[in-house]
Amino acid sequence: MNLNLIAVLGGGQMGSGIAQVFAQSGFKTVIYDLATSALEASRKGISKNLDRAVEKGRLSAEDREAVLARLTWTSNLADLAESDLVVEAIIEKLETKFQTWKQVDELCRPTTIFASNTSSLPITQLAGGVSHPERFIGMHFMNPVPVMQLVEIIRGYMTSDAVYQATFDLAKTLNKVPVTVEDSAGFISNRILMPMINEAIFCLHEGIATKDDIDTVMKLGMNHPMGPLTLADFIGLDTCLFIMEVLYRDFADSKYRPCPLLRKMVQAGQLGRKTGAGFYTYETAAKAVAAK
Ligand code: CAA
Repeated sequence: MNLNLIAVLGGGQMGSGIAQVFAQSGFKTVIYDLATSALEASRKGISKNLDRAVEKGRLSAEDREAVLARLTWTSNLADLAESDLVVEAIIEKLETKFQTWKQVDELCRPTTIFASNTSSLPITQLAGGVSHPERFIGMHFMNPVPVMQLVEIIRGYMTSDAVYQATFDLAKTLNKVPVTVEDSAGFISNRILMPMINEAIFCLHEGIATKDDIDTVMKLGMNHPMGPLTLADFIGLDTCLFIMEVLYRDFADSKYRPCPLLRKMVQAGQLGRKTGAGFYTYETAAKAVAAK
């Protein structure tokens, strides 16, 4: 497969991370976002990550420049027309995704592969909105993308073997470890992770332990790098709730019932790191300063 240009839809944390990984693997990559403020934040975030890699001796100053030279940021969708692969990492709203894919579908060549980084929406359903569902696939990266090794490769009902194999091999080229997953709500990662986080929130809700102790159990007892409540703040409580709702609806099983406390916190706008407060409060984007 000839991949001369990769396009990433969405300049948020996931989209930027994905674009950085492609550029670091030698691919010319364009990041698209409607909001110029998001593009600016993306440019700064990637530069900062690369600076840190240079400081740590993992990247030469010369390579840093080469990576940046492979990246462009745009709010003009027409700049994506020549792309060979489009990876979508925009907001988790079905309608918005459908609209964006429709525009991209009209713009790109019929051979372009379309990959969605959705964390839980059905790939088969998303693929139904484009003219060639056989070249639509799920490519689910983990946050923070430059650090986490895993990529779930999700085959939609119509995904062709050729597109699946090319995407699987591509993930390896990015120095990631791909796993193959059939299209099913939450795939593997969020089918397991989110009920664990939800259960941790139930423990807090029922007053079984403090949030610090709940996190400590999973950190020190199970060697997780972050406790589940810290991780929920890191992911975003709105995202956690959204995924639980998808699991609850698609499996119609009460075991996926979102914890009322999670729902209440989302209603209150306490979404975690991105809003400065969730289960913990944050002075900066990266530091928990106080338990409530
Ligand atoms: N971008 C790039 N690099 C980053 C980064 C970011 N956002 N955050 C941390 N890093 C790098 C740091 O530079 C550091 O690298 P060096 O050791 O070379 O300096 C390394 O990661 C470790 O960082 P820290 O020392 O600052 O902190 P840490 O050891 O606590 O690790 C962590 C941070 C990697 C995030 C770790 O806490 C962790 O693995 N947490 C769990 C993350 C996780 O579970 N992710 C999956 C979320 S679910 C998901 O993404 C799917 C979904 O659909 C919701």
